[in-house]
Amino acid sequence: MKGLLLAGGHGTRLRPLTFSGNKHMLPIANEPMLFYALRDLAAIGVREVAIVLGPLREGIREAVGDGRSFGLRVSYLLQEEPRGIADAVRRAREFIGEEPCVVYLGDNLLESGAGPLVRRFERGGYAAVVGAAPVDDPRRYGVIELEGERIVSLAEKPAEPRSSLALVGVYVLDARIFPILDRLTPSARGELEITEALDGLLHSGAPVGVERIRGFWKDTGRPEDYLAANREVLARRPPSYFTLPSPPLPPGILRGPVRIGNGSSVDPTARIEGPTVLGAGVVVGPGSVIGPYCSIGDGARISGARLRESILMDRACVEGPVELRMSILGRDSQVESGPRPIGPISLIVGDAARLRGL
Ligand code: DAU
Repeated sequence: MKGLLLAGGHGTRLRPLTFSGNKHMLPIANEPMLFYALRDLAAIGVREVAIVLGPLREGIREAVGDGRSFGLRVSYLLQEEPRGIADAVRRAREFIGEEPCVVYLGDNLLESGAGPLVRRFERGGYAAVVGAAPVDDPRRYGVIELEGERIVSLAEKPAEPRSSLALVGVYVLDARIFPILDRLTPSARGELEITEALDGLLHSGAPVGVERIRGFWKDTGRPEDYLAANREVLARRPPSYFTLPSPPLPPGILRGPVRIGNGSSVDPTARIEGPTVLGAGVVVGPGSVIGPYCSIGDGARISGARLRESILMDRACVEGPVELRMSILGRDSQVESGPRPIGPISLIVGDAARLRGL
């Protein structure tokens, strides 16, 4: 089984805000989003992965390299323009060859991993296996209509969804998809749609299986989903993940599972509630309260502020008596409140942005 990991597309945007760099490198629990898919592929026994890169691709090759640190052999394919998921798969024809392949959208995070889909594929003699999960607003997704375990229809972002089951962004395919991909034409949004290809495969009479996804699944395309993914990942980290630097902190500062990187300092009047992770060289100043469900990047500084369910990227800085909830602060951003306590508020602040005198 091969793996195709998609990290191209429309690039950097975490709608509605732009962070610099490729969005698949945005951190979840202080690790690039893309790493979760790579680890999942390695865990299900895939050894060879091609990563599809789009025009905004900086940082990915540097971070993943040849994949050795993940136990994978990673190569790269370029998709110069975001012409759709099906276009990306078509470009990987030579890489995939005659082997079955797990196609993984790099902005998807699954608690169960791709394992259940792969096992169904291997059991059933399918041409493709897709995942289905219930969602509140199916119009934002590919939608799958089922009768029992039989797929009745597949449609991409339909105006009038025929079910509330979304197509999850992990697909197991074999080479029978390629002739269908060759016949696709661009959709109304100008892309070759994988959902349309799967629908074509189904209507060609090929067996397409469906696996109902258990546990959380997030497409991290919107800020609230990205924050939810961070929360779910932190909530599921095993006790061994939560390590503290030595010498130990004075008692009373930490509550619940907390991980703190090297060179970080925490003022004795601060409090950190788990599950929360602090990177290396973080400075937590007097009176700060951090957590639960916070991921604080390397070199971030927090002083006198209260943070909950938030992501601070590397070197972000929050100063003053402000309470932030469900907030995302980009790299090198600065938030400084005046002397009057404010909040709770939710902020989404791009890289290197500065907010003063809130
Ligand atoms: O997350 C699940 C949804 O993903 C499915 O329900 C939809 O059927 C599927 O079309 C997809 O919808 P999105 O609108 O979320 O796709 P998006 O444009 O965000 O791209 C998904 C991933 O694929 C993302 O990691 C970027 C990558 N990509 C996307 C395009 C359009 C590429 O590598 N190349 C591309 O041309």
